[in-house]
Amino acid sequence: MSARGRVLQARGAVFERLQQRAPDQAAALRRIWRRQPRLPLEPSFRRYGMGHGTAVDRVYIERFLATNAADVRGDVLEILDDTYTQRFGGDAVTTAHVLDLDPTNDRATVRADLETGDGVPEQAYDCFICTQVISITYDHRAVLATAARALRPGGVLLLTVPGISHQAEPDGERYPDHWRFTWRAIDRLLREAFGDDAEINVYAEGTVAACAAFLYGMPAEVLPRAALDPHDPDYEMVICGRVVKPAL
Ligand SMILES: C[S@@+](CC[C@H](N)C(=O)[O-])C[C@H]1O[C@@H](n2cnc3c(N)ncnc32)[C@H](O)[C@@H]1O
Repeated sequence: MSARGRVLQARGAVFERLQQRAPDQAAALRRIWRRQPRLPLEPSFRRYGMGHGTAVDRVYIERFLATNAADVRGDVLEILDDTYTQRFGGDAVTTAHVLDLDPTNDRATVRADLETGDGVPEQAYDCFICTQVISITYDHRAVLATAARALRPGGVLLLTVPGISHQAEPDGERYPDHWRFTWRAIDRLLREAFGDDAEINVYAEGTVAACAAFLYGMPAEVLPRAALDPHDPDYEMVICGRVVKPAL
């Protein structure tokens, strides 16, 4: 029997028992069920729908970076590759630095560990674009402390983290996924790492439709714009944080 068949069979059995015990309740439940959308039991695509269009979380991540594009200048540090540095910084970037722990990443110019801080230069960067990284490190407090040390006074951290998302990689070989966050946690973690004198702005993005589409791996291109905005505070899909490290 198919997965949907099994669900329908189990639901039918529950309903029959309720019908015998409490017919009024059963009738009310039937009315509610009829109004519910039929949710697919499998995602449209796995791995965020990558390869089929833009992953929904990237719409929010890239909007945050576009809003703060003026910060992407001078010596810019990014993790994995320099895609966002080039796209949002352009000519304002003096040097694009790419940091990665992964020894097989040949785009990396800095081989270092953000968690231990080993190999990460101090006060070396004007901007650190740190998108979707700290959830795959266990000690995110240590990573944020490293970020604070790596920036020059007046430098800017542009951070995004997942709030609602599926597992990054179930076997965790490349990306051992550890955490999900809320805006409140990120706000507090950033204040701990950068101190009270830092300028810190944190907000979340997401709606129930955007979260559902993202979990089903539906690409952003198939969603109506109204599904993405305005933000519904009950559904934090992506948390965005901008920090200006205090000048000396
Ligand atoms: C999921 S990718 C995200 C990168 C990219 N910024 C993005 O927006 O998709 C995470 C990257 O962080 C690197 N990484 C994980 N733990 C790290 C650590 N402790 N130090 C440095 N890099 C790390 C991984 O090797 C990988 O390149």
